[in-house]
Amino acid sequence: MDSTSENFSIDRLFGLFGKTALVTGGTSGLGLHMAKGLLQNGVKVMIASRSEDKCAQALETLTPFGEIVAVAADVTKQEARAKLVAAVEARFGSLDILVNNAGANWGAPLEEYPDAGFAKVMDTNLNAVFALTRDLVPALARAATADSPSRIVNIGSMDGIHVPIVQRVPTFAYSASKAALHHLTKAFAVELGAQHITANAIAPGFFESKMTDHVFEHYLSDIEDDCPLHRVGRPEEIVGILVYLASRAGSYTNGTVIPVDGGTSISKGKREWTL
Ligand SMILES: NC(=O)c1ccc[n+]([C@@H]2O[C@H](COP(=O)([O-])OP(=O)(O)OC[C@H]3O[C@@H](n4cnc5c(N)ncnc54)[C@H](OP(=O)(O)O)[C@@H]3O)[C@@H](O)[C@H]2O)c1
Repeated sequence: MDSTSENFSIDRLFGLFGKTALVTGGTSGLGLHMAKGLLQNGVKVMIASRSEDKCAQALETLTPFGEIVAVAADVTKQEARAKLVAAVEARFGSLDILVNNAGANWGAPLEEYPDAGFAKVMDTNLNAVFALTRDLVPALARAATADSPSRIVNIGSMDGIHVPIVQRVPTFAYSASKAALHHLTKAFAVELGAQHITANAIAPGFFESKMTDHVFEHYLSDIEDDCPLHRVGRPEEIVGILVYLASRAGSYTNGTVIPVDGGTSISKGKREWTL
């Protein structure tokens, strides 16, 4: 192909105008940032989380930025997932972008780590992603073409790549769930490619959110020291990678796990570079 006849403008490569997206856990933290980022780029967005109040608040926050709807739904519950799938069908008819972002964590010493906590984290971070994605494949497939695949973007974690220690309290289920989610992403990529649906995972490092309030309060300087860039992530750095994965430019990126952690997951923490 002659590159002189190609259009490599930012609009053509990254424009998302008119697409439809569902962002689970879109009422706070990273999900709220991603929902806003999609809206600001002309995407019609549905967000979902358990709390009616958080849905109402997020709706108020996001309405100025575009066409947004919020559905109160617990993604770990089959009936709630069915409600969400029905809402997507009714509102959009088909779905271009599914962002599986809702997540939970549980930290406790090994001998005290409860079965219920382990199960809750696996249910939210892994089992619900599998079930919701499976049930939304028909809607994703309806929006998909070979030239313009539909996208599944799973929010994993650098903690699914390395074993986290900086927060001091072990998070066995969280790390295991995110590592499994990364692998599930690859399995989806292989399974769904033929239907023109891609699947990728973003593996964030530390970003400010409700989930990280406690660790930021107590261990922020350790977190910064652990990162080669000596800082936590900024909202635009998550939104940017999502826009790429959802865009024309990202159409051929499939089955990847992309760390957005300033290099934390490949570093061994702070070193004094004295000779
Ligand atoms: N912040 C970080 O540093 C960081 C790093 C790596 C990965 N992540 C991942 O990023 C994602 C977002 O986390 P966050 O940091 O933004 O935390 P957050 O502010 O606590 O947001 C979590 C969101 O998920 C929703 N949620 C939780 N359980 C749910 C359920 N069962 N059904 C539906 N919605 C549910 C919450 O709303 P409700 O309470 O209303 O349900 C909320 O909207 C998670 O998958 C997390 O593991 C975050």
